[in-house]
Amino acid sequence: MNEFRTTAVLGAGVIGASWASLFLASGRSVAVYDPDPNAKSTVLEYINNAWLVLQKLGLTENSNQSGSNIEFHTSAADAVAGADFIQESVPERIEIKHAIYREIENALTKDAVIASSASGLTLSEMQSGFKDPSKLVLGHPFNPPHLIPLVEVMGNEKTANGVVEKAEAFYRAIGKVTIRVNKEVPGHVANRLQAAVWRESIHMVASGVASVEDIDTAMWAGPGLRWAAMGPTMLFHLGAGEGGLDEFCQRYSDSFNRWWDDLGTPHLNPQIARQLIAGVEKEANGSSTGELTAKRDEMLTAILCASRQLRDHD
Ligand SMILES: NC(=O)c1ccc[n+]([C@@H]2O[C@H](COP(=O)([O-])OP(=O)(O)OC[C@H]3O[C@@H](n4cnc5c(N)ncnc54)[C@H](O)[C@@H]3O)[C@@H](O)[C@H]2O)c1
Repeated sequence: MNEFRTTAVLGAGVIGASWASLFLASGRSVAVYDPDPNAKSTVLEYINNAWLVLQKLGLTENSNQSGSNIEFHTSAADAVAGADFIQESVPERIEIKHAIYREIENALTKDAVIASSASGLTLSEMQSGFKDPSKLVLGHPFNPPHLIPLVEVMGNEKTANGVVEKAEAFYRAIGKVTIRVNKEVPGHVANRLQAAVWRESIHMVASGVASVEDIDTAMWAGPGLRWAAMGPTMLFHLGAGEGGLDEFCQRYSDSFNRWWDDLGTPHLNPQIARQLIAGVEKEANGSSTGELTAKRDEMLTAILCASRQLRDHD
């Protein structure tokens, strides 16, 4: 817990404000840089709202939400000066990422680690913004980072020895679950999984198999609930009794191969988008996105609280 006491958050929008809340909750200091003139008030409001959930999750034990532990800077270089761990969450445009890397490079401390939240850009694309990219890793969260445990971490041959491990240790110390991405692919790991499932959902809507609402229900009331407990391969290991995955593959390989051959490959064009939007509006049944977001976060918090004890005993 002594490592990375001083953090910096570059870009404090949807993702950065959430990271700031979590870093602060862990008792660390947070230096924020965001050029938006309203950033300070929106971040403080975000932290205020997130705090209750963080408390429920037992993630505020080392902090008292002290306002003195967060500072807002007018330059990125000032924000990173003296910071041990820097989380970059500026907009997903390579020229913006590169510009901020150029701005901070000379201000970084010798042992600083900088992690980018980037969802779509690859590590090697981002590395070219640094003269020396050895401190940069991918630290890709899932929205909202203060709630969803997963962080995808990646380094490569240009990353200094031990930097990926340091980033993983930091994330675990603040309650995250990390996975290692070993090879550069668009979307890293978890977004590719989401994309695969959503692709088939869209295909089934477009070809009239079921409604948007029923496909969403099939997910949360079925496999989604199991996937919150364990991943798909482990679940199938349990799907054919004592014979485990070996038995499962023997029994079901023909079925899966047949289903895979039949899966759709839709493209998200305006016409399909309209069909999905009409379906989700029906499913929302008049609830605003604010109300649905609050419900989502309440459910996620309940699941996380209920399963925390079990995970701790793994
Ligand atoms: N939104 C998601 O679901 C999600 C999930 C995981 C990762 N990400 C990644 O996180 C990053 C940020 O995404 P977001 O959704 O928070 O975007 P956002 O637009 O909500 O926030 C970006 C923030 O960066 C600020 N900004 C603009 N230029 C800047 C600069 N030069 N220096 C510092 N700050 C600057 C903006 O004022 C804004 O507050 C992206 O790389 C994105 O791919 C997003």
